[in-house]
Amino acid sequence: MTEQKRVDLSVPSAARMYDWLLGGSNNYAVDQAAGEQLLEVAPTSREIALQNRWFLERVVRALAKEHHIKQFIDFGSGLPTQRNVHQIAQEDDPGARVVYIDNDPVVLALGQSLLAENENTAILAADMTDTDTIFAHDDVVRLIDLEEPVAALFVSVLHCLPDSADPKAMVDRVIDRLAPGSFVVLCQLVSEDAEVRDAVTKLMSEQTHDNWGRVRQKSDVDELFDRLIVQEPGLRDVTDWRPTSELQQRQRSIEWTEYGGLGQVPPRR
Ligand SMILES: C[S@@+](CC[C@H](N)C(=O)[O-])C[C@H]1O[C@@H](n2cnc3c(N)ncnc32)[C@H](O)[C@@H]1O
Repeated sequence: MTEQKRVDLSVPSAARMYDWLLGGSNNYAVDQAAGEQLLEVAPTSREIALQNRWFLERVVRALAKEHHIKQFIDFGSGLPTQRNVHQIAQEDDPGARVVYIDNDPVVLALGQSLLAENENTAILAADMTDTDTIFAHDDVVRLIDLEEPVAALFVSVLHCLPDSADPKAMVDRVIDRLAPGSFVVLCQLVSEDAEVRDAVTKLMSEQTHDNWGRVRQKSDVDELFDRLIVQEPGLRDVTDWRPTSELQQRQRSIEWTEYGGLGQVPPRR
């Protein structure tokens, strides 16, 4: 299998910094120090992480309950150990199947222990851009029926990819594999302020030793949906994607946002 990174506790990882922002305990001093620096450049980074996680929960619940989706592939699934995709989807149907993909070795180790007794889930150590390897993997073949609708999740991960990795081409390769009626969830960090974009991108790239992509603009994310039918309420700051709590909605990020939404794969022509 490809690209499982080695654990290097001298270099912060995006996965562990995100865990720290969310109040998790699967992070180290180096991640906390990097997180503190991020808060200096973008003080509402905790809010953005929380908003993203709440969005993930709402969109997975909508897919499971309203669209009756029973199979999920979560690209760049991250570390959180509560309210994960399988826990939300299996509330509605214990038979719902979930494959998690991440290239961070700490995510893999934790994920394997969390999922050990759940036969309808699997976690793969893979680079999310390695589409052929992922779809040929035994666990994907076992759990995901590509003749039936699938939800592919790219939640808060595309900013981890540099332009040279061509995130749009990766999303399109996945869309090509999915049955019509499938769904794709996409959101990433954006700012319309060039200074914020540059400052955060520089900081994260330095901190992670170039294991990061960049903060983009809303128009970049809009383009990712060009082969999908955008679902209501459209593309927006995910804070405002079908919010369920006024209190949560008030805790918004200011300097930057997670922007995106839900798209459906159209019928084949
Ligand atoms: C900000 S976290 C998002 C986690 C989760 N999707 C969520 O929204 O809560 C980004 C995750 O993407 C993973 N990641 C970054 N680049 C990746 C790559 N090329 N392949 C697989 N996973 C990647 C990181 O390890 C990290 O766990």
